[in-house]
Amino acid sequence: MEANLHHQRSEYAQGQLREEDLESNPLTQFALWFKEYQSQAVFEPNTVVLATDSEVEGPNARVVLLKEFSLEGFVIYTNLESQKAREARERGRVALLFFWPELQRQVKVKGRVEWVGEAENDRYFATRPFESQIGAWASQQSQELSSREALEARFEELRQWYTGQTVPRPPFWGGLRVLPEHYEFWQGRTSRLHDRIEYRPLEMGGWVFRRLYP
Ligand SMILES: Cc1cc2nc3c(=O)[nH]c(=O)nc-3n(C[C@H](O)[C@H](O)[C@H](O)COP(=O)(O)O)c2cc1C
Repeated sequence: MEANLHHQRSEYAQGQLREEDLESNPLTQFALWFKEYQSQAVFEPNTVVLATDSEVEGPNARVVLLKEFSLEGFVIYTNLESQKAREARERGRVALLFFWPELQRQVKVKGRVEWVGEAENDRYFATRPFESQIGAWASQQSQELSSREALEARFEELRQWYTGQTVPRPPFWGGLRVLPEHYEFWQGRTSRLHDRIEYRPLEMGGWVFRRLYP
């Protein structure tokens, strides 16, 4: 099996990034773009690739759902014993990569990792649908699983146990918060002359941006 995709070509002509239109705060710029993407009515507009790294296993990446963004950071929720959580703890820094093909845009956010507090984890867990709550308990995320049946049996056991009760948050489930130290906004342009703008924080507060070669 092989595929040669050399002839697959698309034009990028949907928009442009001009210095005079950029927000001075990259979070505001992100919020504007995210809102535009949300209005595209795509499946799960809040999907994002979370990239991590570890000494032994090297680089790693997976899709997760962005659940919150604000001046406090970008938050995703996961199993705190999962591979991603272990790698995020080890390195203390991660990257988030958004790809919004309908708008021919990409946004990268790199930053330090913080862990969401117990109270906030509890609050968010309580808003999740019952079945997702049970799913969180049932999964030893990233560990070897003997069979699909074993997972389903565990889910069913827990589902029956908790029916009619409030499901407590598993102690191994919570939020990872990325505190941005770097942003990059990418807008596709014609002839591969794409727009790339990088923001970096200034020591005295605020941000500075510059254009990068595509
Ligand atoms: C659309 C989509 C959304 C996902 N959302 C999450 C999520 O919010 N949290 C999560 O832990 N895993 C999520 N996953 C599963 C992860 O991609 C991944 O398989 C899992 O978290 C285990 O990753 P790890 O072993 O690298 O820790 C999602 C996958 C997809 C495709």
